[in-house]
Amino acid sequence: MSTTFQLDTSTSRANPTPKPLRRLTVPRIRARKKDGVTDDPLVMLTAYTARQAQLLDTHCDLLLVGDSLGQVIYGLPSTIPVTMEMMANHGAAVVRGSYHSVVVVDMPFGSYESSPEQAFESAAFLLKETGAAAVKLEGGEAMAPTIDFLNSRGIPVMGHVGLTPQAVNVLGGYAARGRSDAEASKIVSDAVALDQAGAFAIVIEGVVEPIAIAATETVSCPTIGIGASAKCDGQVLVTEDMLGMFERVPRFVKKYEDIAGLIEKTVATYAGEVRSRAFPGEAQTYQPKN
Ligand code: KIV
Repeated sequence: MSTTFQLDTSTSRANPTPKPLRRLTVPRIRARKKDGVTDDPLVMLTAYTARQAQLLDTHCDLLLVGDSLGQVIYGLPSTIPVTMEMMANHGAAVVRGSYHSVVVVDMPFGSYESSPEQAFESAAFLLKETGAAAVKLEGGEAMAPTIDFLNSRGIPVMGHVGLTPQAVNVLGGYAARGRSDAEASKIVSDAVALDQAGAFAIVIEGVVEPIAIAATETVSCPTIGIGASAKCDGQVLVTEDMLGMFERVPRFVKKYEDIAGLIEKTVATYAGEVRSRAFPGEAQTYQPKN
């Protein structure tokens, strides 16, 4: 599938409502942090589908097609099994459903770690297939040469440090990072390495707050926190988590709604109406024309 298939807004039931705005660009996102200060914090949410992208788009600066779709959409136990095809298909859908936010696609585990050349091939495939503007990859200092390689060949990269879920088998779980001095200084030096390599922004996930603040104050590009600090230059959450689609969410998630409860209630009403033959009613039934 490719982004060259545009949404047909005359027939799609997922019509974009507001008038198209001009899409933000990576340099404009990067420039939101000036001389170490971000007056207008960056708003990022995950999106995996076209309709979800339409609903989030005007409220966000960035839409992240996160590899968290492995758990959220596919019911996988971690992000490890996520494939390039999954990222390409969902990335293309999100680009089709948005016109304002910068769309960033996660590079899945195994698609970029072995060499900068492997990373370039994978990232180029994702940008071509989706129409997204940038990729995100996980890892610290070891990934700096790869970020430099991609950036200097036309591929903007968002970094991701701290709790890096693709490394769950090395980290041994999803606990917050940066509690020991060694871990704390490694997270800050990782962020500095990515910044110097040309990352246009860096996600800081699941770290104790002073480390998130230290990294934010040290790097020149914007930091985007998740389980980090309100003092980061922006914030991201998994949309389904903040909407209340799941009972169990990490502690750093604020549930802004109870969408799971709303869905269950609505489906129970539907099921009751089907069973009592109250649905379909007259309004939903075709009769012969006289
Ligand atoms: O995959 C993802 O959704 C992410 C965010 C949680 C930062 O990487």
